[in-house]
Amino acid sequence: MKFLITGGAGFIGSAVVRHIIQNTEHEVLNVDKLTYAGNLESLISVADHPRYHFSQTDICDRAALDQLFSDFQPDVVMHLAAESHVDRSISGPFAFIETNIIGTYQLLEASRSYWGSLAEKGKAAFRFHHISTDEVYGDLEGTTDLFTETTSYSPSSPYSASKASSDHLVRAWNRTYGLPVVVTNCSNNYGPYHFPEKLIPLMILNALQGKALPVYGNGQQIRDWLFVEDHARALYVVATQGVVGETYNIGGHNEKANLDVVHAICQLLEELAPNKPEGIQFYQDLITYVKDRPGHDVRYAIDASKIKAELGWVPEESFETGLRKTVEWYLSNTEWVQHVQSGEYQSWLSTQYQG
Ligand code: NAD
Ligand code: TYD
Repeated sequence: MKFLITGGAGFIGSAVVRHIIQNTEHEVLNVDKLTYAGNLESLISVADHPRYHFSQTDICDRAALDQLFSDFQPDVVMHLAAESHVDRSISGPFAFIETNIIGTYQLLEASRSYWGSLAEKGKAAFRFHHISTDEVYGDLEGTTDLFTETTSYSPSSPYSASKASSDHLVRAWNRTYGLPVVVTNCSNNYGPYHFPEKLIPLMILNALQGKALPVYGNGQQIRDWLFVEDHARALYVVATQGVVGETYNIGGHNEKANLDVVHAICQLLEELAPNKPEGIQFYQDLITYVKDRPGHDVRYAIDASKIKAELGWVPEESFETGLRKTVEWYLSNTEWVQHVQSGEYQSWLSTQYQG
């Protein structure tokens, strides 16, 4: 089968591309604009594989998308391209409206046009898999409830509102035009190749450099953490076995308060990186409480029983095993880290072509 994957140079997209190339016989076309979050160095392990292809394309560019669909003839579209950081959506929402809403619309229309041109068999087999977030459901503050696939949407941030909008567009394209879609809504991911603007990689790298560990508000906000490779396996299962028109929630049953996550990282670093920057006695001494995020959601938690019961997916990593693997990965992949911190990763494509 042929998979057209948008956002394949991002954190989760690159895990999906690596998973499919390394564990299946499928062909992959990675369609990515390479924003600040796109990093081809996360794909070095598959870059030369004959079943892997890359196109630097903006999903808002309909003509370019039409050409890619016509040339590649995908069986499955997995749509991960997005602006993904809540804090950036607060300081600059327009890019989120553009890529997450308009980009998804353009991709849906390119998919619909291509799908309409297929013979009956290809039409029935085609899948458009939209990858979304549990943040569309809003805030579970003060309850012990879990998000299920029927929880009402109540997004809080410009990011989650733009993702909610894209989810609605995808479902409308199924109901109105019959496009065969599946949707997944997942909890917070963590793991290797995560851009250090998000909580876990930011804390690991700041601590190693002796910088402050900025905890928003009182640090009691709860997220439900899932190791990114577990998410990648779940996405492949849904893209290939999910029932058209259905939504699947994906999560790790790992609810943790942010402050506990930061303490767990500090403890692991005490063990794995005991030689600290000068003047630092304990990594946890770097914890600094800063102003809270506006509109900050207090708690997210996913009920992942549907995907387990219907598609047999369960996560392999606990938070403890996954976090240890993550810290070890950042300690041993210093070149990737250095290139991200220096900005050098953004010139990797041109250096490859010049070389
Ligand atoms: P990311 O920010 O790491 O990567 C996004 C990728 O999309 C980058 O490679 C970027 O270059 C690309 N991109 C951005 N705008 C584009 C455009 N206009 N055209 C083409 N490519 C573009 O994001 P991520 O954390 O890997 O998240 C991937 C998807 O999963 C997103 O849709 C996100 O909403 C969803 N999601 C993320 C999480 C999480 O914890 N990170 C959890 C649940 C769902
Ligand atoms: P983040 O990784 O940005 O993911 P999201 O906002 O999508 O959940 O943040 C995870 C949690 O950590 C969130 O409650 C905000 C908090 N946070 C901090 O306390 N300090 C930080 O420096 C960052 C980036 C996040």
